[in-house]
Amino acid sequence: MSISELIGATPLVPLRRLFPADGPRVLVKAEFLNPGGSVKDRIAREMVDAAEAAGELVPGSTIVEATSGNTGAGLALIAAERGYDAVFVCGPKVSDEKVGVLRAHGATVIRSRGDVAPEHPSSSRSIAERLLEVIPAAWSSQQYDNPHNPAAHRRTTGPEIWEQTGGAITHLVANVGTGGTISGTGAHLKEVSGGAVTVIGADPAGSAYSGEVEPFLVEGAGRIYADRALWPSTYDESVVDHLEAVADAESFAWAHLAARHEGLLLGGSAGTALAAASRWAPRLTAEHTLVVIPADSGRSYLSKVYDDAWLAGQGLRDEVERIIGVVRERRGLRAPAALPLDALPEDVRPGAGALQPTA
Ligand SMILES: Cc1ncc(COP(=O)(O)O)c(C=O)c1O
Repeated sequence: MSISELIGATPLVPLRRLFPADGPRVLVKAEFLNPGGSVKDRIAREMVDAAEAAGELVPGSTIVEATSGNTGAGLALIAAERGYDAVFVCGPKVSDEKVGVLRAHGATVIRSRGDVAPEHPSSSRSIAERLLEVIPAAWSSQQYDNPHNPAAHRRTTGPEIWEQTGGAITHLVANVGTGGTISGTGAHLKEVSGGAVTVIGADPAGSAYSGEVEPFLVEGAGRIYADRALWPSTYDESVVDHLEAVADAESFAWAHLAARHEGLLLGGSAGTALAAASRWAPRLTAEHTLVVIPADSGRSYLSKVYDDAWLAGQGLRDEVERIIGVVRERRGLRAPAALPLDALPEDVRPGAGALQPTA
């Protein structure tokens, strides 16, 4: 058994509190249980295996990738497992937690500028292209253009969901970044269901996939280039039936709701997907089964999505709390209560006796 053999075969977790019991069954594919913590482990393994089989990736090769972090984490752990070096180019949006994971696996990380077009020499893509030229035996997965990206989901994620639901899935909700997850999983599910599965793309508002381009904070999902010529070939638009544009505050509110009321600590783009699912659930009945694919775990965003000061700094905290409040009221959920620390007996009060102050 090797670590990359543990990728995939993730369970489906039913959401019991955020969605009404008399509505559709809502199931979350627990992709955060992959060894690298995200759905992207699946494509990392598929792309590396194919490159090894084709002789493109050989002993002594260096893996070079422009990444929003999760594909990097998958490639970094496989590089460590198989003895390759790895260099990743990450834009400024990529969380420090994700960069820390890449470095922990021994990879080199270069931070690029986020405010430039892909053809600009300082873009992540241009830097990665230059590195490919100058590093001997360098290999890049080109995840935005690699058919093994959607193929990984067609081969694994789609069949897993079909089997785990006993063919009962009627709706699939996933993000669109490279488009690999939604295109590969959606294509398989449509094929085996005779076209009966509805595929819904959960897109950050401001992403080119669903509307006008504007800055957004959700990581990994969406596309910031309006020019269709710059859209990835891994995204097959024909598989997607509907796109839901979700604002940052709504995405982050749903991530918080899942953490506080379902015990699921998920990333910001998973919040986008849950928000999209919440728009569809009222239109469906108990006959329907809606499966959500969250890309990753919230552990990568403790310094951002789950940090009050960061949310406040982005001007989002009040709106996030307001949306959380609306959903709680609708679902009859109680906010987790904070312990009134100052009212505690003196020997267990922070700062007293052996206890340390909280901050
Ligand atoms: C956090 C996050 N969400 C969503 C996505 C989108 O997945 P895909 O590239 O398969 O469309 C990614 C991809 O890197 C991601 O890292």
